[in-house]
Amino acid sequence: MKKNSVAQKKLSVPDIVGKKQKHEKIAALTAYDFIFAALLDQAGLDLILVGDSGSMVFAGHPTTLPYTMDEAIYHCNAVSRGVERALLVGDMPFLSFQVSVEETIKNAGRFFKETAVDAVKLEGGEEVAETVRRLVKSGMPVMGHLGLTPQSVKRFGGYKVQAKTEQGAQQLLNDAKALQDAGAFSIVLEKIPGGLAKKVSEELSIPTIGIGAGPDCDGQILVIYDMLGLFEQFKPKFVRRYAELAGKVREACQKYSLDVKNGQFPSQEESF
Ligand code: KIV
Repeated sequence: MKKNSVAQKKLSVPDIVGKKQKHEKIAALTAYDFIFAALLDQAGLDLILVGDSGSMVFAGHPTTLPYTMDEAIYHCNAVSRGVERALLVGDMPFLSFQVSVEETIKNAGRFFKETAVDAVKLEGGEEVAETVRRLVKSGMPVMGHLGLTPQSVKRFGGYKVQAKTEQGAQQLLNDAKALQDAGAFSIVLEKIPGGLAKKVSEELSIPTIGIGAGPDCDGQILVIYDMLGLFEQFKPKFVRRYAELAGKVREACQKYSLDVKNGQFPSQEESF
């Protein structure tokens, strides 16, 4: 596939942080493969996340928990071959960063040694702050993730809005500050009240990237298959579908199937 015809400056971690200081919103999406990654990059996305959501929307699992380090490395490599400009972030799988700081450094190190990611993302607040500090000190930029952290779905009892109580909101603010102090360069805020996301965004100097966290974050992210209307199993309230591609893909494949079965494809012109 042809990449960008005009050479584009590759965005760095400081470029993404600088966008907050310049009051420029950060546009982010997920990708799991080369073709979508190249399209997103050509469309001008600032940040592409190889999310562990791929466990659900790419691999068909009911949660993100089965995602493995080897799968993460595979998808990050596929995506990186399509990306020239956007900052590329790899998501750390469940249990790849919880066991010990040493193991986390080795696992995060695989992203940087074996793929072309610019940063890794991991879920959690104060409890992962020391881990984040060690990763950043080792030269590996880290993006945090607070609120509805899908790797804790079993503890939450479903994909529910988080930090709705005063105590929960205060804890989330403490978590955000702990991540910033530990050196995280940005934080995803997922499915929390918009007012809380606004307060966190105002109190932090690093950018917040919202998903289901209202309009006042410093940037937004969605799962690519959700916003293109390809993932039809359910549609969260915070998803805006910019296309309805599932129906279009089905229609095209149905037409192809009929053409083959009726002897309409291939034609003489399509033959040698
Ligand atoms: O895995 C993922 O896609 C994510 C985003 C939804 C933020 O974590």
